[in-house]
Amino acid sequence: MTCSLTSRRAVCDKVGMSSPTVSQDDRDLAQYAALLDRPVRAKVNEFQRGERLRHVIFSGQFSPPLLESLAETADMIRLLSKSRQGQDFLINLLPHKRAMLYFTQPSTRTFLSFMSACQILGITCNEVRDPSTSSETKGETRFDSIRMFSSYFDLIIMRSPIARLAESCAYLMNQVERSGQRAVPIVNAGSGADEHPTQALLDIYTLQRTFNFENPQNAQHSRLDELRKSQGYVDLTKGLSGKTYGFCGDIGRGRTVRSLAMLLAQIPNVQLVFVAPQLPKLMMRDDLRERLRDRGVTFYEVDSFEAEVDGQPVIERIDALYMTRVQKEHDTPADTASYAGIDFTRYCLSPELVKRMRSYAPILHPFPRDQHFGEIPPEIDADPRAMYFRQARNGMWIRAALLAHIFDADNQIQREFRHEFHERHRYVE
Ligand code: NCD
Repeated sequence: MTCSLTSRRAVCDKVGMSSPTVSQDDRDLAQYAALLDRPVRAKVNEFQRGERLRHVIFSGQFSPPLLESLAETADMIRLLSKSRQGQDFLINLLPHKRAMLYFTQPSTRTFLSFMSACQILGITCNEVRDPSTSSETKGETRFDSIRMFSSYFDLIIMRSPIARLAESCAYLMNQVERSGQRAVPIVNAGSGADEHPTQALLDIYTLQRTFNFENPQNAQHSRLDELRKSQGYVDLTKGLSGKTYGFCGDIGRGRTVRSLAMLLAQIPNVQLVFVAPQLPKLMMRDDLRERLRDRGVTFYEVDSFEAEVDGQPVIERIDALYMTRVQKEHDTPADTASYAGIDFTRYCLSPELVKRMRSYAPILHPFPRDQHFGEIPPEIDADPRAMYFRQARNGMWIRAALLAHIFDADNQIQREFRHEFHERHRYVE
């Protein structure tokens, strides 16, 4: 494919690269422009192999049945991991596989939980976190790096500040495979301001578990009945559907919000409420707005928890709240100037606000939280609705389930689990 310099620049802008000089890296990305610009629906088949995901690039790849099956596998891994025998079984599942964690953007949870997930299943890990220690300083392109990794490893898990780089690498792998050479799956662990599909996966797994309303102490005693009868939530149902999900903070630059919103858009009868300052950088981007409209999702954009939805203040109306930090590292001086006059405390939780939330409504946050901004003050951590630490641990189990799915090891997990426990969890009735 040939491309003029100006069109390459336009493409580079689109894929999130701001440099005005066009490098080989830019040209590599530009050659996939036509593929990148297609609607999600047109792409999903290329990232599948039969029934299984081959590459994990955006959250729209997780269909509701796949979400349910991954959650079941994650629950099984979680329970099997409680015994030494179960741990031994899991660690012997994939010891012949090697994973490269190629993380050139800061990460704590995503990196460590992927690494732990690999370790649970016996997958050996290696990492490149700082491109200054790799041959990229000698002028190697990112695509050459990826091809090299695919020579040594069986899976590449990658995080990059460049939007759509992971998707382009998946196309590269498909191309390489078609020419009869070695290619491996690509898992997107965060791509610029674009997508973070596995974060959305752990977020939704946390919501699935919460809205299952199981009482871990006493399986006979249904929390849902109690909430309906004694607490007056008469219409409350099990499962993700029919609920109102609130998102607060940096909606514009938060890739976790984008990925989770698109995932929730597949669930019937959900409403989404986005609470953000009325500044274009922090508000929802047009492409997400259009995608939600295309899917027929009801959503509201408001600038405060006190705004009303269905005749109630947002903070009292929502069934779950997803907090985010304001991503100041992406600010330009013009952004900083535009913040004058905005009262950012309106985008921070307080114990008083939490008291007004529904008694079952979980508070999620992808973390890190910003101690200086204070979107979730630590006083809230002891509240039973504060889900963020459990949410992070859920990331390890669901990522292990995803790896088991990619490497076709989930059936073995199911067999072992049935043999051990003779029971199954269901999320959707
Ligand atoms: C987020 C990310 O990197 O997108 N964190 C994460 O992966 N858990 C959110 C953030 O940095 O604010």
